Amino acid sequence: MKFLVLHGPNLNLLGRREPHIYGSLTLDAVDRLIRDYARLRGVRVGCRQSNVEGQLVDWLQSAEAEGFDGAVLNPGAFTHYSLALRDVVAAIAIPVVEVHLSNIHAREPFRHESVIAAVARGQILGFGTGSYLLGLDALIAIDRDARQTRPPARPSGRASQRRRTRGPGLSRRR
Ligand code: DQA
Repeated sequence: MKFLVLHGPNLNLLGRREPHIYGSLTLDAVDRLIRDYARLRGVRVGCRQSNVEGQLVDWLQSAEAEGFDGAVLNPGAFTHYSLALRDVVAAIAIPVVEVHLSNIHAREPFRHESVIAAVARGQILGFGTGSYLLGLDALIAIDRDARQTRPPARPSGRASQRRRTRGPGLSRRR
């Protein structure tokens, strides 16, 4: 399994940006923790950051084709107003878990609304770097549930393929 971790605007400033809210770890250190945790859980991750809305949209659009099975998304301030990000999260087939370092509901009123939340598979917030790790756990759980509810794979091979296309009791010639 391979998951995409996306950090939105200003998260490149982690470590020196309002450390009393966002903590003292740099983005590189956060990404290292995420990668170490992923290794522990037996999954692969790709971590990316952008300050540009369109770049985040592009990465989400191409995530499935790039082989990602899900995404952890911290949309930063885009959380509160980006309909373009909301639309791409709604449009793609892979699950997206929205995460935040801080508890946005305990902060300024303009942060209380997320336009992403309704189309994300779920939201995890307020646990600092732990929010990203819990986001990975959520994706792993979503994938496990999907595998359990999926019908069993059909047998492969030529004989079974012939059986599938012609049906069991039908001979080749009539
Ligand atoms: C944030 C919360 C947002 O309100 C803010 O604009 C951020 C970071 C968080 O991780 O707590 O940039 O997404």
